[in-house]
Amino acid sequence: MNAPFTPGMIKDLNVPDYVRNARLIAWVGDMAALCKPERVHWCDGSQNEYDRLCQQLVDAGTFKRLNPAKRPGSFLACSDPSDVARVEDRTFICSERQEDAGPTNNWTPPAEMRARLQPLFDGCMSGRTMYVIPFSMGPLGSPIAHMGVELTDSAYVAVNMKLMTRMGKGAIQALGENGEFVPCVHTVGAPLQAGEKDQTAWPCNPAVKYIVHYPETREIWSYGSGYGGNALLGKKCLALRIASSMGRAQGWLAEHMLILGVSSPEGKKYHVAAAFPSACGKTNFSMLVPPKGFEGWRVSTIGDDIAWIKPRADGRLYAINPEAGYFGVAPGTNLLTNPNCMASLHENVIFTNVALTDDGDVWWEGMEKDHGGQLPAHLIDWQGKDWTPADGQAGRKAAHPNARFTVAATNNPALDAAWDDPAGVPIDAFIFGGRRSTTVPLVTEARDWTEGVYMAATMGSETTAAAFGAQGVVRRDPFAMLPFCGYNMADYFGHWLKLGQRLADGGAQLPPIYCVNWFRKDAGGKFVWPGYGENMRVLKWIIDRIEGRAEGQQTIFGITPQYSEINWTGLAFTPEQFATVTSIDTAAWAQELHLHDELFAQLAQGLPAALTKTRAAMQQRMRE
Ligand code: OXD
Ligand code: MN
Repeated sequence: MNAPFTPGMIKDLNVPDYVRNARLIAWVGDMAALCKPERVHWCDGSQNEYDRLCQQLVDAGTFKRLNPAKRPGSFLACSDPSDVARVEDRTFICSERQEDAGPTNNWTPPAEMRARLQPLFDGCMSGRTMYVIPFSMGPLGSPIAHMGVELTDSAYVAVNMKLMTRMGKGAIQALGENGEFVPCVHTVGAPLQAGEKDQTAWPCNPAVKYIVHYPETREIWSYGSGYGGNALLGKKCLALRIASSMGRAQGWLAEHMLILGVSSPEGKKYHVAAAFPSACGKTNFSMLVPPKGFEGWRVSTIGDDIAWIKPRADGRLYAINPEAGYFGVAPGTNLLTNPNCMASLHENVIFTNVALTDDGDVWWEGMEKDHGGQLPAHLIDWQGKDWTPADGQAGRKAAHPNARFTVAATNNPALDAAWDDPAGVPIDAFIFGGRRSTTVPLVTEARDWTEGVYMAATMGSETTAAAFGAQGVVRRDPFAMLPFCGYNMADYFGHWLKLGQRLADGGAQLPPIYCVNWFRKDAGGKFVWPGYGENMRVLKWIIDRIEGRAEGQQTIFGITPQYSEINWTGLAFTPEQFATVTSIDTAAWAQELHLHDELFAQLAQGLPAALTKTRAAMQQRMRE
């Protein structure tokens, strides 16, 4: 069946006969009429198609095929230096009313934004192919999953979407004739004149970028960037910004959380969802290898970045990972920090902005730790320039600090058997973790749901990257959702509180909430907690609390472990060191509460009273 479509340059939308969704066909027709691509290709999601597109990217110079003896089926792409990360200052939540976007989002009235985007999108794909990418966020047919369709003029996006989502024919079949989908349109914003060829291997628009969300109509429009979350619209745009707004309307949660399974030697299984700000080791935690002293324990990955969580009739919260792959930060990843991740990267990987070795393999900062500190004598860096250790000493990185790997979840040796289960997994505990060198203890259990929401709402990260300005300043990142909440953050806190209340009123026992901080430093400025696999010791204490096997101790900020309650087998960690990572300095906390006040002042409109009450109770406990 071909759509009756003859707009301008497009003779035929090439609609495959298995596509029956009239709304989808009409929308693709409208968008083709606007964007004026040279041709339209509907992605079927097959391996054949993936291989063809990868070869096309190799021919165009966007991909370098890596040495098949070293990294079979793998490619390296290097982006334009102006297009290396998400662009938060160009990201907009265009709700009808500004207060619905809230003070932490960029906002423009939808009509004004549409008027601005219309001329930019007019003809934006000329000379290029428009790829139609139907995808399911979540296992096909899962009651927790939702569908999207991305239109893009980037073959790089199409192949990444194949690894990151359930994409193609299966998604179209799940959509059926009348299924709902979130329309997502993406262009690199670099139209070609008739007969013109790309002058660059990474077309993008260095001057103009827009990442736009219309939460009421559930649409995403992205212009000018080909990179990561700006362009792979299923991830941050749909699965977090639009989905958080859907979750609010429909009574569920879309969260910036990994999901992991923990199995005990007795065969009991627990599921934990954990939120950390970007670049705080979420992928590492989701693939954790238990250390010495934890024989018989296993941690398995359900997701490394995003969780969709819906309550079921039994009163429990069930979670899926809406994604099907990992788009992780490569630098810093090695056999010490994440052996399962390194094993996931052996084959069929797309690397972006890492360095190329002389034997056709990849390299990034941190990999030297797996080679006794030895740096390669020569590399081609992510910008295509020669690199030697002398450049490294002069501070020039071979891989961009935000360099990425894209890999299917099925490459992960620690993948949980239930990762693709449409029913999801029941959540036994939530963890929220910031990055703080002082003040916040290693682990604290909230006394109740409201206190947990307070902890999550006030979590913060000390800035490390130059991009965020002065080092050591605390950037509040409530629920690790600051760049990803598709509506007013104060209403988001309210949504969490209301959901908890509703479940509790129905007689449910809510999962306990924990706050963790792996990043406390000693007086000499050194990290004290070893982190990585050793975080299992904290996870085990959490399970002991769930099982009623650990008493903990009350503090002004919740319940923390006693030294004797942690399994220290295999790790020399003294009570003094433990005190350094768990101590609560009342003077620092008095200061901290003032910083919470600043956040609450910013979010005053609609801020739930329960949070200010929790703050007052903490203040009171400090006086006692
Ligand atoms: C990510 C992020 O890429 O949080 O996952 O920025
Ligand atoms: Mn993330």
